Amino acid sequence: MSAIKISGEKRLVLVSGRAHPRLAEEIARELDSELVPTENRTFANGEIYARYGDSIRGSDVFIIQSHCAPINEWLMEQLIMIDAAKRASAKRITVVAPFYPYARQDKKGRGREPISARLVADLFKAAGAHRIMSVDLHAAQIQGFFDGPVDHLFAMPVLLEHFKTKLDPANLTVVSPDMGRVRVADIWSDKLGAPLAIIHKRRDPLVPNQVSVHEIIGPVDGRICLIVDDLIDTGRTIVRAAEALKNAGALGVVVAATHAVFSAPATEILQSEFIDSVVVTDSLPIPPEKYWDRLTVLPIAPLIARAIHEVFDDGSVTSMFDGAA
Ligand code: R5P
Repeated sequence: MSAIKISGEKRLVLVSGRAHPRLAEEIARELDSELVPTENRTFANGEIYARYGDSIRGSDVFIIQSHCAPINEWLMEQLIMIDAAKRASAKRITVVAPFYPYARQDKKGRGREPISARLVADLFKAAGAHRIMSVDLHAAQIQGFFDGPVDHLFAMPVLLEHFKTKLDPANLTVVSPDMGRVRVADIWSDKLGAPLAIIHKRRDPLVPNQVSVHEIIGPVDGRICLIVDDLIDTGRTIVRAAEALKNAGALGVVVAATHAVFSAPATEILQSEFIDSVVVTDSLPIPPEKYWDRLTVLPIAPLIARAIHEVFDDGSVTSMFDGAA
C-alpha cells in the first residue's frame, strides 16, 4: 500500500463576483495568477447561483466583490460565493470588499434605526468568511463589528504619490469636508507638510444626501485647497465644500477621494466651476459615461494585490503603511 503524500503547500485561489470583474483581473495579474472560473447566474425571479469551475478544496480563497449599485444584489452574490466556498471545503475564506457595503450606517443616529454595517459583518461571518479585507472604511471601528481579522488598507499612499509632484506645500491647505474625516485629513496634512482646515457640515437627518456647509476653520484664503474624503456619493458634500472654500478666498480646489460611488447627480455637479480637479481610485467601477476631463482615476489593484500577497504569505499588512494599519 502506498503511503499518503502530505503536501504542506498552500494554494492561493482568487475568485470574483460580477460587480467589477476588471478589478479582480488586475489583482490577479499583479499576483501573477489567474481567477478561478466561476459560474454566476441570476434566475428569472432574482435568485443568484454561484459555482466554482475548479476544485478549491483546502485552498486560501479570496472572494473579490466591489459593492456598487445594485449593492444588495452584489452583497448577496458575495454571500452566496462564500457559502459555496465553505461547502467546497476551502481552508480559509477572505472577503475582499474594497468598498465596505453599508459602512455609513455604523451607529444609531436616532432611536429605532438599524446598524447595518454590523449586520453586514454578521452576514459575512454567518456565510463562512474567516477574514475581511477592505480599503478606507468609512469608520475604522467597523473592524470591530467582525469577529475575526480585518485588514484595513489605506488608499492614501496611492493618492499621495499622484499629488507629490503636483502640489506645492507652501501654498496648500488640506481640507476635511466634515468632522468625521478630521483624523484622516490630519494625517494627509502631516504627510504633505501643509496646514489643515475643517468644514462644519450639517445634514438634515430626515432628507438623505442633503448637505449644508456652516463654517470653515483654518487657513484657506489665497491657498490651494485639497479636500480629502473617503467617498463621493451624490457629490453634494464636495461641491458645497468647494463652493464655500472658493467663497472664502481659496485660489483652487482639488479633490481626492477613495471610493467613486458617483450616484446621480455626482458627475454633473462635480464638473462645477468651484472644482479644478477630482482624483479617485477604481475601487468601484466607473462606466465611461461618468468620466469627464478633470477626473483622474488611479488603479487600486496593486495595493490590494500586495495585501493579498502579505495575507497569503503570513507577512505583514501593517508594513505596507509605515506601521499605521
Ligand atoms: C460622509 O460622512 C462621507 O464621508 C461622505 O462625505 C459622504 O457620504 C458623501 O456623500 P455625498 O457625495 O452624497 O454628499
